[in-house]
Amino acid sequence: MNRYAVFGNPINHSKSPQIHQWFAKQLGVELSYEAILAPLDGFADSWRQFVQAGGRGANITVPFKEIAFDVAERLSERALIAGSVNTFYFNAAGEVVGDNTDGLGLVADLQRLGFVLQDKDILILGAGGACRGVVEPLLAAGVATVTVANRTAMRAEVVAENFARQVSGHGYDDIPRRRYPLIINATSSGLKQQRPPLDATYLEGCEFAYDMMYGTALTPFLSWCKQYGVSQVADGLGMLVGQAAESFYLWHGVKPDIGPVLQDLRSSMQTTAGV
Ligand code: ATR
Repeated sequence: MNRYAVFGNPINHSKSPQIHQWFAKQLGVELSYEAILAPLDGFADSWRQFVQAGGRGANITVPFKEIAFDVAERLSERALIAGSVNTFYFNAAGEVVGDNTDGLGLVADLQRLGFVLQDKDILILGAGGACRGVVEPLLAAGVATVTVANRTAMRAEVVAENFARQVSGHGYDDIPRRRYPLIINATSSGLKQQRPPLDATYLEGCEFAYDMMYGTALTPFLSWCKQYGVSQVADGLGMLVGQAAESFYLWHGVKPDIGPVLQDLRSSMQTTAGV
């Protein structure tokens, strides 16, 4: 049986094994998918051992997404732009290809939720790896502009430099005044039960707030958006399932339906957050 795995540290709370088992059942694919705790300084060795034992591909999560970028023998365009890798697969020449499916997962989830990206002005909060991975897929989906805001303005400016003038980077006190129908929180502020320091007036034209974080309750950012009247909010659980579906497609050539798996996952988490 083909073996797949997710590598991370910590890894015991990973939902990927469950998600891939559900996908496999949905599409009648035979596979095994395990969670592997790699030592903090031992990702490359851990991956090699897995391949020797029959591993055919992997997902890579925190804190190994940047080191996976170095370990890959080839990089997809998406991974190059993101500067990080969340998926390994083997190409026809037997080389390890590093790809990044996070951005496609976000776009797939937004489409599932009925948000039309075409010609929209998007505001992204945060300029770390989570932001870098989604800018290009949003542009490819036809958005008009991407505005990146970050506490450390310089990091947002550096993200923007990699793209044409459609993308700009700013500090929170310097965000261009326009209507942003979609605001995405790509910061890690939720980990500390905080929200990014965005002035509430930017929420006036916002129809949809998306938080890449998820949990068993609404994130602080999404609660704040709701309080200010944003009509639709969603957490990042759908993006998690979406990126997994894109990895599954790279490995097996068939794309799972994310809706039913997301529903199962949410009920297994017994959460009321999100949609
Ligand atoms: P990731 O790969 O998850 O994006 P990261 O590279 O450590 O992680 O980046 C974390 C992002 O969250 C950064 O944009 C960070 O802002 P700074 O670059 O200014 O540090 C942002 N962030 C973290 N905590 C935040 C908070 N409480 N408010 C606003 N932004 C926050």
